[in-house]
Amino acid sequence: MQWDTLIVKNFLAINEARVQLHNQGLVLIDGINKSDPKFKSNGAGKSTLIPDALSYALYDITTKGDKADDVINNKVGKNTEVILIGRKGEDTYRIERYRKHTKHKNKVKLFRNDTEITGKSASVTNKLIEELIGVEYNTFINSILFAQKSDGLGSFAVLPDSRKKEILDSLLNLDIYSLAQEIAKERVKSKEREMDEKRREGDKLEWELSQVDVLEEQEKAQYENTRNLIRQEQQNLADTVKQLNDYPAKFFPVVDKCREEVVRLTKEREEMNTVNISEYQNDVNQKQQLVMATKAEINRLVKEKASIVTNYKKVEMSKTCPVCGSEMDSIHREQELNSLKDQLRQVLISAQSLEPILQQHETEYQASYEVFSQHKDIQNRAMEEYRNISVQIQKNEQAVQHYETNLKALKDKVQHINTTLKKLMSIPEPQKKDSNREAIKEKITAHKHSLVALEKEKQTLEDAVKVYSNEGVKSHVLDLITPFLNEQGNTYLAKLAGSNMELNFSTRTPKKDGGYSEKFDVQLINRAGGDKYKSNSGGERKRADLAISLALQDLVLGSTNLIVYDEVFDALDETGVENVIELLKERVKTIGTIFVITHNAHFSNLFEKRITIVKDTNGISTLKEGEGKS
Ligand SMILES: Nc1ncnc2c1ncn2[C@@H]1O[C@H](COP(=O)(O)OP(=O)(O)O)[C@@H](O)[C@H]1O
Ligand SMILES: [Mg+2]
Repeated sequence: MQWDTLIVKNFLAINEARVQLHNQGLVLIDGINKSDPKFKSNGAGKSTLIPDALSYALYDITTKGDKADDVINNKVGKNTEVILIGRKGEDTYRIERYRKHTKHKNKVKLFRNDTEITGKSASVTNKLIEELIGVEYNTFINSILFAQKSDGLGSFAVLPDSRKKEILDSLLNLDIYSLAQEIAKERVKSKEREMDEKRREGDKLEWELSQVDVLEEQEKAQYENTRNLIRQEQQNLADTVKQLNDYPAKFFPVVDKCREEVVRLTKEREEMNTVNISEYQNDVNQKQQLVMATKAEINRLVKEKASIVTNYKKVEMSKTCPVCGSEMDSIHREQELNSLKDQLRQVLISAQSLEPILQQHETEYQASYEVFSQHKDIQNRAMEEYRNISVQIQKNEQAVQHYETNLKALKDKVQHINTTLKKLMSIPEPQKKDSNREAIKEKITAHKHSLVALEKEKQTLEDAVKVYSNEGVKSHVLDLITPFLNEQGNTYLAKLAGSNMELNFSTRTPKKDGGYSEKFDVQLINRAGGDKYKSNSGGERKRADLAISLALQDLVLGSTNLIVYDEVFDALDETGVENVIELLKERVKTIGTIFVITHNAHFSNLFEKRITIVKDTNGISTLKEGEGKS
């Protein structure tokens, strides 16, 4: 990318500035701070103009870390804009960033040949811009800027090893290998997951194989059990059939006898004469009635006798005839009394004649009853006999029934055992599971092959991880680059500091045990001074830093048309400064533009071109371009 113009308005301390960037040669940027005479140039806005505005235009952040509304000039408070114009191939590009801008609000805009190609969102546009530049922020601040920042390129020697590696990675584009390694690592992991899954499948297959044996054993044991049951049932059947045969043999004669008994007893019972005692009963009844009737007649006669006696007494006493009602004289009375006496005699005779008849009847009744009683006894005995026979019939019938029931039970049992046996016999004998076993074994073999294949694939991926590791391709690249860095660095250092100091870049540091640790380092050997970087003076270190930074910049010279050195003269003596300027004059021939920022006004006459930032008493900085040596 070739950068042409930088336009700044109300950006941090700067009120308004326009700087040409392409082929400007070596340009000094100094400053005057009128807002506070104590400061002279400090705080004028020098770092703001180029490093910060450039960083902001490209990456949306200043080298100091300011972004968004932080970059608005706090005196004006609005209408901030930073515009960077450059070229790539045939095309012209323009990046415009605005904050609190009356027209453009907080927009970031990108134009190609005056056509806006701004993305849908600021982050999309920022990505587009970064793709366009082709240099990421880290690389930018470590190669294009020799910045004041403590971890910038200017202090490479004192950075921790990890930062050195990072910077080198970004300068040499080694990040791509880290990225590749991440991808390879992820693939190794996913391969491992695949293998774990495969191994689980293998375990499952082994288990299935062992299950075939288990199942075979189980089925065998189960069938042995069935076989035992069959044997038991067969024995049971034999026993029961024997019982079924033995039972009638043993009990049939008895039962037959019982049957005969039933027939015989039934016949006997049928033949039993029914004893009829009604005839005797009737006779007894008749005789009894005769007795009763005679007794009743006697009673009637007794009553008649009493009535005659009563009448007799009445006639004796009364004057009127109780029969005809007329007055009675003695004759009449006598007649009547005699008549009554006659009547009485008649009654008494009748009664007397009935006595022997009654006697007769009672004797006959007695005799008849005797006969009846005898027959009644006979009848009772016959009934007793009948009942006995019936009980015996029942007993015999029960015995027959019992026998038949038992016989049927035995027959049923035989049938039942036969059914059970049939069922047991129908259970098939288990088959050997050799074919199952073979099938699973085949699967296991196939599975082992695929696991070996996966292992190989994983091996390849692990090799890739190694290749992309710091010890792999990266260390090769660094090994290739180290001689170059040493040669360039020492050439620069010789120019800056004479032959007493020497730089030594190394990708491997010798260890006490004779081996090496993979560590990128740069050492400063001072034949006339301390042998550690830190034990050297500020000026010595500054020279070394510059030599290192120039050597490192050599790695990226092709990708930029401008370089900025911010406060590069600090801690250098006059010869040091002259040497640096000489080197930079040499360098600018290939770069095109080098901005050197300094707060020290003494060096201005050493530069052809000069930009002065003037901060007025109100704290607003503006730009004053002019010739050097003024
Ligand atoms: N938002 C801002 N608006 C105005 N001035 C600012 C803002 N932020 C920082 N400054 C001032 O800008 C100056 C820093 O400018 P800088 O370019 O670093 O100085 P130098 O000229 O020393 O490099 C300081 O005086 C600081 O207070
Ligand atoms: Mg500064």
